[in-house]
Amino acid sequence: MIGFIGGTGPEGKGLALRFALAGEKVLIGSRDEARAKEAADSLAGDAPPGSVEGKSNADVARESDIVFIAVPYSAQRPTLESLKELLEGKLMVNVIAPLAFDKGRASAMRVEAGSAAEEARDILPNSPMVAAFHNISAQELLIPDRALDTDVVVCADDSEAKQKVMALADAISGVRAVDGGGLANARYVEDLTALLLNINRIYKAHSMIKIVGI
Ligand SMILES: NC(=O)c1ccc[n+]([C@@H]2O[C@H](COP(=O)([O-])OP(=O)(O)OC[C@H]3O[C@@H](n4cnc5c(N)ncnc54)[C@H](OP(=O)(O)O)[C@@H]3O)[C@@H](O)[C@H]2O)c1
Repeated sequence: MIGFIGGTGPEGKGLALRFALAGEKVLIGSRDEARAKEAADSLAGDAPPGSVEGKSNADVARESDIVFIAVPYSAQRPTLESLKELLEGKLMVNVIAPLAFDKGRASAMRVEAGSAAEEARDILPNSPMVAAFHNISAQELLIPDRALDTDVVVCADDSEAKQKVMALADAISGVRAVDGGGLANARYVEDLTALLLNINRIYKAHSMIKIVGI
């Protein structure tokens, strides 16, 4: 089971929809169970029947084998600390890009641990931490028949966990997983999100990335 902590936002919902379309069962989590159920219901018209359910973040943490953390960076530490026992040993996927905004322009925030993903790894030292899906547009994910043509860079120190998440990314139609090396590289992928958002502003688009030459 794949679960999303903070799954009611566009990123969680968009990835949940694409995984459901790829044949996975997914749980959307929220601090408020009613909001989670509402978000799951909003995908019901597009996702296969019974593939998406909404639950509290705690139930999602308890019932999922692979847990995405999809809250804003400012909420990462309190959220993970409050669910720490339930997340022990779970394969974690961190999609968080620590960003600041000034007059609509995005910039990457400096994180003491190096990246949001490394900070999360320090909070949950017994859960394999994988950083991925930062540079994919939630808006595009949420349009089910929109063809994607993008790469997802996956960084992790645990190679088994990395392979599992790369396989998940590859299962989304139009997505190619790219091995981004260890978790220390997550900072570059997180920071790139700021550039993409500024490019979106200029081109009024939903830009994504493609690595060439590999
Ligand atoms: N949007 C994108 O295109 C995109 C792309 C790549 C990566 N990301 C990353 O993915 C993450 C989620 O993005 P998003 O756009 O979906 O974010 P979002 O809508 O701002 O937040 C996602 C969910 O997080 C929960 N949340 C918000 N504040 C919280 C708090 N203080 N404590 C606990 N939970 C809180 C909310 O769920 P409840 O209120 O229901 O609990 C909210 O629906 C971000 O870190 C972002 O950097 C986003």
